[in-house]
Amino acid sequence: MKHNFGAGPCILPQDVFKQAADAVLDFNGLSILEVSHRHKDYVAVMDEALDLVKKALNVPSGYSVAYLQGGASLGFTITALNMMRDTKKAAYINTGTWASGAIKEAKKVGIDTQVVASSEDKQFTYIPKNVEIPSNLDYLHFTSNNTIYGTQFHEFPKSDLPLLCDMSSDIFSKEINVADFDLIYAGAQKNLGPAGATLYIVKDDVLGKSTSPFLPSYLDLKNHIDKASMANTPPVFSVYVAMLNLRHLLANGSVKAKELENNAKAALLYSEIDSNPLFSGNVATEDRSKMNVTFKLIDENLNAEFDAAWKGADIVGLPGHRSVGGYRASMYNALPLESVKVLVDTMKEFTRTKG
Ligand SMILES: Cc1ncc(COP(=O)(O)O)c(C=O)c1O
Repeated sequence: MKHNFGAGPCILPQDVFKQAADAVLDFNGLSILEVSHRHKDYVAVMDEALDLVKKALNVPSGYSVAYLQGGASLGFTITALNMMRDTKKAAYINTGTWASGAIKEAKKVGIDTQVVASSEDKQFTYIPKNVEIPSNLDYLHFTSNNTIYGTQFHEFPKSDLPLLCDMSSDIFSKEINVADFDLIYAGAQKNLGPAGATLYIVKDDVLGKSTSPFLPSYLDLKNHIDKASMANTPPVFSVYVAMLNLRHLLANGSVKAKELENNAKAALLYSEIDSNPLFSGNVATEDRSKMNVTFKLIDENLNAEFDAAWKGADIVGLPGHRSVGGYRASMYNALPLESVKVLVDTMKEFTRTKG
């Protein structure tokens, strides 16, 4: 078995892969790939996939869920357009590449983006704290987990503004209070399912209130929610596998159980990084991500030898993002603790032979 530390698309539970493969060959007599999205059997899949998100995250009444296409990248535009109000100004916290992407796209659709905090001064290696947020803006946007740098908000920012969050890389990894947010969005391809679907959880009160002069139907969340994510052809297979994965999550202790496992995996790897004299972590200790652990060899001349060691241990997906370098161990929900133990043992053994 390979130990897949890839940042996304990433590992999903093995029995989800198996059921997904079975459905490619036989989904009630057809392939899931050829079934009409209007067929009652598929409508039932979509309904269940929406409902299981509500169950897994205890989504309160007054909120709706939708699956769209376009990835979180289109989410940058969709959130800005749907949440634009009278001031057409919004607060953004800039914690890295994806947060910067959200800022860039909001500007393009006419939002005057105000960067109320940024960690760019230290190459995005920390999470800004005690951020002062003005009150007369349309909303506050932040990215809960910075997949590339390996930082994570362990406490969410507080303000009187509607709160929007890109949770692409830590949704379903820990319990959250959905009522704190007006809009949450996430690309599926980490803890939810295969790439292709993007999840939106939105407070019903905010729908239909955009002041944007430009709001194509596909970008209007109300349109998708009114039509139960069937306004056009949904990402049929991606939603199907997300449904299987959510069933698996709920049958295995749901988000709370995953949170405990994720804490254990993160504690194990960070403890090795901190105690091993050859390695160091990249980011501020208190802001370390439990999903994407970034670290490096203090002596980069050893990289090639370490690369051979982890590849020899059947580990894949460990190189850091091309903009950061070093290593990144992405430890999403489906990655077993066993895989983290293999990585830690590989680091220990490498240090023993070099020591
Ligand atoms: C936090 C975050 N936001 C946005 C994106 C972009 O997502 P997509 O490729 O689905 O557009 C990613 C991709 O990894 C991400 O990790």
